Amino acid sequence: MSSRAIVPPNNTIDWANVGFQYRDTNGFTKYTWTTEKGWDKGVFVTDPMLNIHVCATGLHYGQQCFEGLKAFRDNDGRVRVFRPRVNAERMQRSADMAYMPRVPIEIFEEAVRRTVEANLEYVPPKESGGSLYIRPVLFGSGPFIGMGAAPEFSFIVFGMPVGNYYKGGVVPVDALVIEDFDRTAPNGTGATKVGGNYASTFGPMHRAKEQGYPITLHLDSKTHTFIDEFSTSNFVALTHPDPITKQRTFVTPNSSTILQSVTRLSLEDIAEKTLGWKVEERAVRFDELEQGNFAEVAAVGTAAILTPVRKIVRGDQVINIGSGQQTEIGDGFAQLYKEYRGIQSGDQEDVFGWMWPAEGL
Ligand SMILES: Cc1ncc(COP(=O)(O)O)c(C=O)c1O
Repeated sequence: MSSRAIVPPNNTIDWANVGFQYRDTNGFTKYTWTTEKGWDKGVFVTDPMLNIHVCATGLHYGQQCFEGLKAFRDNDGRVRVFRPRVNAERMQRSADMAYMPRVPIEIFEEAVRRTVEANLEYVPPKESGGSLYIRPVLFGSGPFIGMGAAPEFSFIVFGMPVGNYYKGGVVPVDALVIEDFDRTAPNGTGATKVGGNYASTFGPMHRAKEQGYPITLHLDSKTHTFIDEFSTSNFVALTHPDPITKQRTFVTPNSSTILQSVTRLSLEDIAEKTLGWKVEERAVRFDELEQGNFAEVAAVGTAAILTPVRKIVRGDQVINIGSGQQTEIGDGFAQLYKEYRGIQSGDQEDVFGWMWPAEGL
């Protein structure tokens, strides 16, 4: 355990009602890459306003990518980050996609540590169920009007406290299949976290919300036959439990155009190694939903962690997952969710070594 004194949550914040929106904190960490010198040693910045060149490639050509991860407080008040290395590796794949220099894993981890350490008072108390949401961003900040790499890139990491998405318990939702817009092309950018994959889904997501669908599902762009992922989370389904062994199969698409969700990969480990279930990463046909193969479906990702889906609507077609009327999380996902949150909150032993740094901050 770290010998440093514990920094408690700031007592001027109403921790029960923090919600999920941007808030100022003590500041953020910023590293700069230049053609001549590569990555610098980074600085801590307290002013949330960035001074950006008018000709920055990040602004003009979307030469950028980002990440999202969380830090949690345990019973003793210590703070740990959930699997930052996996996000660091994913950001390197995104950097390659947008023709940007990779942020070395050590710099990514150091930036996360510096940001969290400087903002420990903004990590919510454990009992609130909240966390510090950490947002790393890499973008072309130097001037370049041609199409190519900027002479300067910025890597920033800021954080903000966020509340428990499901204060009153996990609530199942209805999802809408987006038919008139394809999120990513075959062999395109879908497996990376570049901003361009997101802005284009805001319109369809907003229209779906107006119709009463909090989440939207994308099928494969080429044939609209296979399930890809939700707009901001991966698709996961559970088969009915075996009547004797009670075991289930955890099914998730292996599409090359979806993001490798850290949440989904972690839930796979729990399903297989803790619960002894089978895990299938494979092409998932949309019509498998119609055939009733799945007892439970969920959207999984860092922000909400796990959102059960009880109904999937595609044009005039309404597919119920189970009764379609559930008001609570199903038994299978409840088991996965409990184990997963238990590790993050420190209530369960961290058998996979996911919480970083092990000694806490
Ligand atoms: C398109 C997309 N898929 C899946 C996810 C879930 O990934 P993770 O579990 O790493 O947050 C996200 C969120 O980051 C996302 O934006």
